[in-house]
Amino acid sequence: MCGIVGVLGKHQAAPILVEGLKLLEYRGYDSAGIATISDGRLERRRALGKLVNLSDILVHEPLRGTAGIGHTRWATHGAANESNAHPHARGRVAVVHNGIIENFRDLRAFLSEHQVVPETDTDTETVAMLCNWYMEQGSTPVEAAKLTVARLEGAYALCFLFDGEEDLIIAARKGSPLAVGWGEQEMYVGSDALALAPMTDEITYLEEGDIAVITRAGADFLDAGFHPVSRPRKRVRVNANAADKGGYKHFMAKEIAEQPSVLGEATEYYLRDQTGRQLLREGVDFADIDRVVMVACGTAALACSVAKYWFEQLAGLPVEVDIASEFRYREPPLSKGTLAIFVSQSGETADTLAAMRYCAGKVARSVAIVNVAESSIARESDIALPILAGPEIGVASTKAFTCQLVVLAVLALRASEQRGTQDTTRIEALEAQLRHVPGMVSEAMRCEDRIQAVSSQLARRRHALFLGRGVMFPLALEGALKLKEISYIHAEGYASGELKHGPIALIDEEMPVIVLAPHDAVFDKTVSNMQEVMARGGQIAMISDAQGLELASEGLWNGIEMPTFDSIFAPIVYAVPVQLLAYYTAVEKGTDVDQPRNLAKSVTVE
Ligand code: G6P
Repeated sequence: MCGIVGVLGKHQAAPILVEGLKLLEYRGYDSAGIATISDGRLERRRALGKLVNLSDILVHEPLRGTAGIGHTRWATHGAANESNAHPHARGRVAVVHNGIIENFRDLRAFLSEHQVVPETDTDTETVAMLCNWYMEQGSTPVEAAKLTVARLEGAYALCFLFDGEEDLIIAARKGSPLAVGWGEQEMYVGSDALALAPMTDEITYLEEGDIAVITRAGADFLDAGFHPVSRPRKRVRVNANAADKGGYKHFMAKEIAEQPSVLGEATEYYLRDQTGRQLLREGVDFADIDRVVMVACGTAALACSVAKYWFEQLAGLPVEVDIASEFRYREPPLSKGTLAIFVSQSGETADTLAAMRYCAGKVARSVAIVNVAESSIARESDIALPILAGPEIGVASTKAFTCQLVVLAVLALRASEQRGTQDTTRIEALEAQLRHVPGMVSEAMRCEDRIQAVSSQLARRRHALFLGRGVMFPLALEGALKLKEISYIHAEGYASGELKHGPIALIDEEMPVIVLAPHDAVFDKTVSNMQEVMARGGQIAMISDAQGLELASEGLWNGIEMPTFDSIFAPIVYAVPVQLLAYYTAVEKGTDVDQPRNLAKSVTVE
């Protein structure tokens, strides 16, 4: 949800800012803009749409200066247009912001009493207006920024740049992430370490409520009470090349293809001897837990829904899965016997973070399963488990989903072990199945050509249904979510048995139905539901193994073969055709696969 970057350097700032924004574009791409201090004066360039539009403008109207701030926007307040694009500037101040200033109307009312009126529809402009007003009343830039921040409610990561101040950026963080980067007589600031990776790997993360007063010589940090505070400098390992498509047409294609290798790393890390086991034991004894609550958003929430089957079936633990935006306001009763698990690729999703804060002190432990190890959710949890997927850039989550499933699977196994619900032989057999997952995923990739052929037909449809039973049901939901996210085809996921209670009314020869049905214990039931669809003219694409397809291929619109993998962990393997189906359908339709309309990868607003 909006990416911000800033630099106080020795070289021209504009190309550095654009480079940083390129790595942040996954956070939003409604507009982009930069401001620099050129010959002592604040100047801005902004453009509607993707960063490439801003780059074009900069070719014809370059911005000079070695100090600057930049922004890539996912619109919240005010339409996506140039006037609402950041940086927002008033008088001597320019501001970039990620988050939502919830009391901006009150601040506007205050400012209008002083004849300061807004020129845009954004909440962010109010920050620039207020800061400039304080400066007009005689405050220094640092004082004005502090006075402004003190009046803000809501969530923000902010950077302030001041007219006439070539060696000053003020950064502030509450609720949205922000990192300060250290160089040689150069300083940087950015929404994440990835954005700063081309410039530096030495990072200080701002804590909640922190302000950083940054000059080329370094940064001074103030805590939420404006007291000087020291924050550690860390060397972080972020590979800027991770933000490279590596020969693939899209990041999504690259990230799907990376799954065998990243899943291999994750399974190895969590299953290796005693070290991996120890890792999950720390601080959690499932023998003392009587209930698990899992909270997440989007695809991460669907990973939780898959894991619910694992925890319940293997460990006999009741699991409640909730989407974070509902959980946090539902005021659910919690107890010290509850283990709360929060799953988030970015580790910054505002609702998931708020849900975690709601649980603090009310549950036994909060476990975060995250991809970004230094994220807010990781840092505020009792135990953070990295999914080891590596940077995921495509907005539609793929490798993070399957890696989340691996970590959840290992947790479910540890729960079964500690609770004595499965004997050692069974645990070892399940671990062996999990070790097979990366190889199975690699085999599942072989369906790519077949999927491509199905996708070329699916791309001409306006609706689709996904069906699954048991542990495949949440994957049906994920299949539908992926398809709508990137191909804009309306899709719904249903539990196969639920179809006859309503959605079957939608079935006609125009309605493709994708059925996820490995030859497992519920196969026959799923096939019966499939027959009900076929009897009504529905067109079925069945994703199953050789045995399943042999038994039920008659009358299918399409059959897609998966490797035989009789395991409760099969959803990790069946995720591959589901992802590829969405991917190739989107490619066929010519939509923007990596940056689908209206979406953003990291949702740091409610
Ligand atoms: C956005 C993304 C989804 C993602 C969800 C949760 O909606 O587009 O792909 O699943 O946020 O994000 P998180 O970072 O918390 O996993």
